[in-house]
Amino acid sequence: MKKKINSLREIEKETRVCTLCALKSTRTQVVPGEGLATAEIMFIGEGPGKNEDEQGRPFVGAAGKLLDQLIESISLKREDVYIANIVKCRPPNNRDPLPEEVATCWPWLEKQIFSIKPKLIIPLGRHSLARFLPNAQISSAHGKAMRTLFKPTANDLLSESPIKIVFFPCYHPAAALYNGSLREVLFKDFRKIPKVLELIEKEKQL
Ligand code: URA
Repeated sequence: MKKKINSLREIEKETRVCTLCALKSTRTQVVPGEGLATAEIMFIGEGPGKNEDEQGRPFVGAAGKLLDQLIESISLKREDVYIANIVKCRPPNNRDPLPEEVATCWPWLEKQIFSIKPKLIIPLGRHSLARFLPNAQISSAHGKAMRTLFKPTANDLLSESPIKIVFFPCYHPAAALYNGSLREVLFKDFRKIPKVLELIEKEKQL
């Protein structure tokens, strides 16, 4: 157990001083991600915004407040899960991350996933979903569980065996901030999460 915690904290520490892409020159701080090293659930957003860039923590602005409420709506706390992003540095003016920035940052997230080995990954919004399941559309994939075999691609992970992970895409909380009906959909999808976890657990016992 201790090794797992150390290695995740080590990855976060290394991420904080990353200089692998051009975002190093425009960021204030790297936002590695935060949460429980043994989390069953990982939430993965797109990339840090202004508040996250200033604080070095994921989802701390308005969208983050809504994410906190969503997490609490299923009787969990932020500390019970792990929250990360596809890219760990804020793209200037909140533009979409460039494909080369996403590709360069990917091994950090892969290492986090292989360290935590969550049961469930919840991609938040279409950009995050596209990185994991390139053929899925958020409008039809949200609120549905998809079983996958997650294979390592980063060089230092090639000796790791693929891991079984269920994906459960949800709309991005930022998209629901000013859209009441999307907000309702988001809360409704979250209500399914405990059942999905229960089913994963049952399946493991078969
Ligand atoms: N939006 C994201 O996708 N990630 C954050 O950390 C904050 C807002």
